[in-house]
Parts: sequence; structure tokens; C-alpha cells
Amino acid sequence: MSNTILVGAQWGDEGKGKIIDVLTENADVVVRTQGGNNAGHTVFIGPQKYVLHLIPSGILRRSKSCVIGSGVVIDPVSLVAEIDGLLKLKVQVAENLFISETAHLVFPYHRELDEQRELLKGEHKIGTTKRGIGPAYGDKAARTGLRMIDLINPARFEAQLKLKIRENNEVLKAFGAKQISFKQVHAAYRVAGDRLKPFVTNTVVFLDKAMRRGADILFEGAQGTFLDIDHGTYPFVTSSNTTAGGACTGSGVPPNRMDRVVGVMKAYTTRVGEGPLLTESAEIADLLHAMGREFGATTGRARRCGWFDSVATRHATMVNGIDELAVTNLDGLDTLEPIKVCIGYRLGQARLDYVPNDVETLLKCQPIYAEFPGWRTPTDRVREWKKLPPKARAYLKAIAELTDAKLTIASVGPARDQTIFL
Ligand code: IMP
Ligand code: MG
Repeated sequence: MSNTILVGAQWGDEGKGKIIDVLTENADVVVRTQGGNNAGHTVFIGPQKYVLHLIPSGILRRSKSCVIGSGVVIDPVSLVAEIDGLLKLKVQVAENLFISETAHLVFPYHRELDEQRELLKGEHKIGTTKRGIGPAYGDKAARTGLRMIDLINPARFEAQLKLKIRENNEVLKAFGAKQISFKQVHAAYRVAGDRLKPFVTNTVVFLDKAMRRGADILFEGAQGTFLDIDHGTYPFVTSSNTTAGGACTGSGVPPNRMDRVVGVMKAYTTRVGEGPLLTESAEIADLLHAMGREFGATTGRARRCGWFDSVATRHATMVNGIDELAVTNLDGLDTLEPIKVCIGYRLGQARLDYVPNDVETLLKCQPIYAEFPGWRTPTDRVREWKKLPPKARAYLKAIAELTDAKLTIASVGPARDQTIFL
């Protein structure tokens, strides 16, 4: 039995979906523990592209069990659409999917509030995915949320939803936003509830039984370290714990049952939405966008791009306890010369080797760069560490060392076989 937590070491979109898919080969159960359909995990199998939002990427491999844990917030209508999309592509979604009874629900008023709050913030907006994630977790923390267990209990659901819609329509009225129809939401959610009911279960008991049988479990993180509600660049974060601890709280599997933490990071940096990105660079953004890369899987937004930031990834090693590193998108740098890596932050006269918590202070920092020679050779067909250009190997070794973690996987493209194990 071995349990692995996989987390994003940057701002999300590190290519976790693909690495999870690769690691799932050796897992029996894959668990999502936080976030909602703000996530977008892209996996290519042959020419077929799959984009997953709520369902663990493990679903793409037959005979693996997939769990959506209590820490996830679920928009049931969108989850049903995701299941239908997979069924259409002949992916099995049946006795292999388990949804936590205690996962909270996302409603249309959460999405509307998400949008209204962003509008009110104007230029100070977070740049959310507008999926209602923040307001849904807000209700959870305020103890006024509805959960899967309520959705599948028609009488209770109707009574609770009535109150929630009444309350939220008052708030939306104050915003001057459109009202939500109880009738429409109730009808749509009841249909979704009936579809999802067979999957809903006590996932804590399920996972405990799986561990007693000796199953290997993979905990699939969504978003990334700097979007963590506690350890990210608040308020430019998402509303869940995207760091390793979230795998425990979001699943009910205790910390002493976890065996290793794998951190996934890109060979450069990207971020979607607002907030600090010290190493942001037009040069690298233009290059990657021209290659057709770095557009969001969920919202289609062009991602902001920058040089690798080792101060940030070292912070990620610290808060996640990263044992092993997977570096993705190495091939994105194939044409660059030279390649810059941020190795410290300059703040006035001081040099910082950590990420300051105050966003305003962080924004005043200037990155200190080291330069690496580019390899200027395509790497996407390389399958062995020894066959990578020596300069690419040197670059990977350097960024892993600066991050203070052990490099175990390098990825040179979206396909399963474009993976180099060290
Ligand atoms: P929210 O999670 O929709 O509230 O968005 C909060 C911030 O997290 C915004 O900057 C989003 O762009 C970012 N975000 C949320 N989910 C993802 C993701 O899966 N990948 C990358 N960024 C994300
Ligand atoms: Mg993504």
C-alpha cells in the first residue's frame, strides 16, 4: 500500500492532469480533494483530447476507482454534463465513480455573486473563473451550504433551496443583478440529483476499506500552491487548500497514511487571472502563445507567462513537503536563448530568498536572474534522460536543485509516452 499526494507547485496548469494520468497506471484509486469545476485538467490519449473539470483523470483508465472527496465543491448540473461527455467518448463512468455525501454544492446564485463581486472590485478584481467557487466555499464556512447528501433527499432539498434562493435574491437585488428562479434551479438540480444519486456514498469509509485491502491511492490536486487560500498570494487565490494538507482534509485520509508528495511544475511559469507574477515576460508569453500553447482549459483565457521562479517553487517545496518533482513543458523552451531563472528577489537594498506574504511588498520586489544557455533542439521526441540535450539536462537539474527537491519526471509533450523517468 502506498499513498501519493500530487500537487501543483506554481499557479495551477502545471500539467498535473497528464502526470496524474501517467501515475494512475500504478494506482488503484484516484481522489480529487478540493476545488470545483474551476479546474481544467487536459489529458491526451492518442489523438483524443479529454478535458476534465471535476472527475479525477483516473477515470480514463479502466478498472481504476475515482473519488470526488468532501473537500470538493460540486456543480451537479455541470458534473452530469461532464459524465455525459465522457460516456459519449466511450469512457466508462459507472461503479468506478464515488462522490462524497458531504461535498458542498455550487448553485447559480454562487456564480452570479462571483460575477457581481468581481464587477464591484473593478480593476482590483481577482480574475476568477466565475464558476461560483468562492461564494460556494463561503457558504460552507458560514455553515449555510447545501451538500450532496441534501441534493439526493428531495424533500429536504426543496425546503433548503427555497430559503437559500430567497436569501440570495435579496443580496442579488442589492447588487442590481438578475433574480434566480427557484423553479428552474430546483427542476434542473433535482434531475441532476437523480442522475448522481447512484454515485453518492460515504467516501471516507470507502477509502478506509480500500486502504485496508492494500490499495494504492493517488490524491490529485487541483490549481496550485500559490492559489492556496492560506499559503497563496491572497486575495489572488482560489478558495480551497490546494497544498498537500488539503488532500487529507478533503478526503478524510489522515496525514500519517500519506507516503509521498509529488510536486508538478512547468519548466517556466504561468498564471491565469490577476495578482503578482514577478517573472512575467512578454518575450516568453509571445513565444508560447504563438506556438498555440498556454490558453486556459476552463475559460480559454490566454495565460500570463514568465521565467521559472525558484524562490516561488522553493516555497512550494516547503509548504507541501515535496519529495519528488515532475517538470513539465520542457519542450516549450526548445527555441529560447538564453533561458532565465529567478534565483532571488531584490527589495530595495535587501535580497529575499522567500516569498513575502504582503502582496504589495511582493509587487515591489525585482527578480534576480541567472541565465542558462538554451539547447535550441527539439526535445519532444526524446524518451530517455540520457538522450536529452546536455544543456536541457543541466537546466532541469539546476531548477530542481534550486527548488530543493528531487527530479523524477520530465515531460516533453502532452502524450503519455512523452514522459522521461529519471
Ligand atoms: P476561482 O477559483 O474561480 O475563484 O479563481 C480564483 C483564481 O484562481 C483566479 O486567478 C483563477 O484564474 C485561478 N484559478 C482557479 N482555478 C484554476 C485552475 O484550475 N488553473 C489555473 N488557475 C485557476
Ligand atoms: Mg488547468
